[in-house]
Amino acid sequence: MRLLAEHSGSLDLHPTYTYLLCCSLFRDTCRVVRDQESIVGFVTGLRKPRSPEVLFVWQVGVLESARGQGLGKTLILDLIKDSKLPLPQYIEATVAPENSPSLKLFQSIAKELKCEFSQSSGFEAHHFGSENHSPEHLIRVGPIKHLVPTTFS
Ligand SMILES: CC(C)(COP(=O)(O)OP(=O)(O)OC[C@H]1O[C@@H](n2cnc3c(N)ncnc32)[C@H](O)[C@@H]1OP(=O)(O)O)[C@@H](O)C(=O)NCCC(=O)NCCS
Repeated sequence: MRLLAEHSGSLDLHPTYTYLLCCSLFRDTCRVVRDQESIVGFVTGLRKPRSPEVLFVWQVGVLESARGQGLGKTLILDLIKDSKLPLPQYIEATVAPENSPSLKLFQSIAKELKCEFSQSSGFEAHHFGSENHSPEHLIRVGPIKHLVPTTFS
């Protein structure tokens, strides 16, 4: 997952330890997709501790050669439909405004679930101190009323 993030071109890179924590502490809200050789896509997320009805998507990444085939969308939809957890009412994520593929991905999920997509200010550039990091807008999909059965055949 860390290697994929490193080669994603846009994801913040975290230490391997962080990915291990995600996959152990938050294992119900993380997924990977593999081919014969390696991981070709992953999503890490969590239920917000103070608002468990919100599924927060922390990172989603798909290997460049595997993009545009619906993997990113399938990974997130698979988290939503997880029968071990109650259906989330909202999906949230923070996205850099110039990350058009990511915005399109969440807009597509909103369309699929027949619910609203909204954007508001999340973290401003100054919150990142001297890192020269883009601002991150908070995006929200929901309220999710029900799953559309045809999505998950
Ligand atoms: C964002 C990302 C995960 C999308 O993964 P993907 O598997 O290519 O996306 P999908 O094939 O599932 O596409 C989902 C929707 O987004 C749209 N989309 C995805 N990439 C797009 C692009 N570059 N331009 C326009 N639309 C795009 C698709 O058309 C699709 O919409 P549709 O269902 O209406 O047809 C992938 O581009 C990526 O790994 N980017 C680098 C990491 C990153 O920026 N992650 C997001 C920040 S957390």
